[in-house]
Amino acid sequence: MLQTLNRSVRRMGLSFSRFYTSTNNPTPSSSSSSSSQQPQEKTHFGFKTVNKEDKEDMVKEVFDSVSSKYDLMNDVMSMGIHRLWKDELMNTLNPTPGSHLLDVAGGTGDVSFRFLDRIKNSPNYFPNIASSSTLKSSSLPSSATVYDINQSMLNEGKKRGLTMGYTDLSDPSIDWVQGNSENLPFKDETFNCYTVSFGIRNCTNIDQVLREAHRVLKKGGRFLCLEFTQVPNPLLRYAYDTYSFNVIPVMGQLITGDHDSYKYLVESIRQFPNQDKFAQMITDAGFKQVTYKNLTFGVVAIHSGFKL
Ligand SMILES: C[S@@+](CC[C@H](N)C(=O)[O-])C[C@H]1O[C@@H](n2cnc3c(N)ncnc32)[C@H](O)[C@@H]1O
Repeated sequence: MLQTLNRSVRRMGLSFSRFYTSTNNPTPSSSSSSSSQQPQEKTHFGFKTVNKEDKEDMVKEVFDSVSSKYDLMNDVMSMGIHRLWKDELMNTLNPTPGSHLLDVAGGTGDVSFRFLDRIKNSPNYFPNIASSSTLKSSSLPSSATVYDINQSMLNEGKKRGLTMGYTDLSDPSIDWVQGNSENLPFKDETFNCYTVSFGIRNCTNIDQVLREAHRVLKKGGRFLCLEFTQVPNPLLRYAYDTYSFNVIPVMGQLITGDHDSYKYLVESIRQFPNQDKFAQMITDAGFKQVTYKNLTFGVVAIHSGFKL
C-alpha cells in the first residue's frame, strides 16, 4: 500500500521534476542498526511521552482519522476565525505573479488556495490566453505545492481544488506531494515562499524542518509560519484553556467521532515553544530578519524570516 502511494506521488512529481532533488537527504530520525541496543530517544505526543520514532505514525493516525471532516471542524472549533488568520498570513506574504509557494503540512490546501486566489486577483496577473487579440502578454507562471505527510488530507484538498478550477495544469497551478517536512524531496533554492500553517508543532524534529525550509528557499525567499502559541495574559489564557480542553475534544467527538485526536491537538499546542523561543529556533536555522506578530491576543502568531 505504502509502495503504491510512493509510486503515485513520484508519478505526480514528474511534471514538476525541476523541483526535485535526484537524491533524498538522509532523515536524521531514521533508525540505525544500533538503535535496538541504545535507549530510545523520547519526545512528546500531546502530554504523553513517547519514543521519538513512533511519533510520526501517531500523528499520521490523527489526521487520517479526521481528514474528511477537517475543514468543517476548523470552522466550528475556531468559530471561523482561522479564515481571518490565514487571510492575515496572505496579507503578510502579499504574493505576486511569478511566485512559487511550498505549503508544508499543507493538509487540504487551505493556505495554498488563498495564495492562488491572491495571484489571480493581483493587478499584474494576466491569464495565459493564446490569442492574437490579447493586448497584454500573460504573466509569469505561478504555483503552489502542497506538501503533507498524510495522503488522506491531500486527497481531500485535491477534491476541493477541482471544484475551484485549480490543477497541475491550471495557471496558477497546484500540485500535491506526500512526504515528511523533515526531509523535503526538492532541490536547493527552488521556492520563493514557504508557509507552514498549524503544522510544525506536529513534527518530531522542528529544527530539522526549519533547516529544510531554509535549504529549499531561494535567496530573498520568505518563510512564514502560522501556529498556535502561548497566550501571554494569564486571565485570557485561563479562559482559552478552559474552552480548548473542555469544549474542543467534545466537538471533535460529535463531529468526527474522534475525541482523542482533538485532545492531542489541544495538548500539542501547550507543548509548542513560546513566541520568542520559536523565533530563536528560526534564526538558528539560518533565517534573517526574524520577527513575529501575535493575532487574537496571542492565541496564534505569525513568524517570519528571510533567506538572505
Ligand atoms: C492541523 S493540520 C494543518 C493543515 C493546513 N496547513 C491548515 O492550516 O489547514 C496539520 C497538518 O500537518 C500534517 N503533518 C503532520 N506532521 C507532518 C510532517 N512531519 N510532515 C508533513 N506534514 C505533517 C498533517 O498531516 C496535517 O495535514
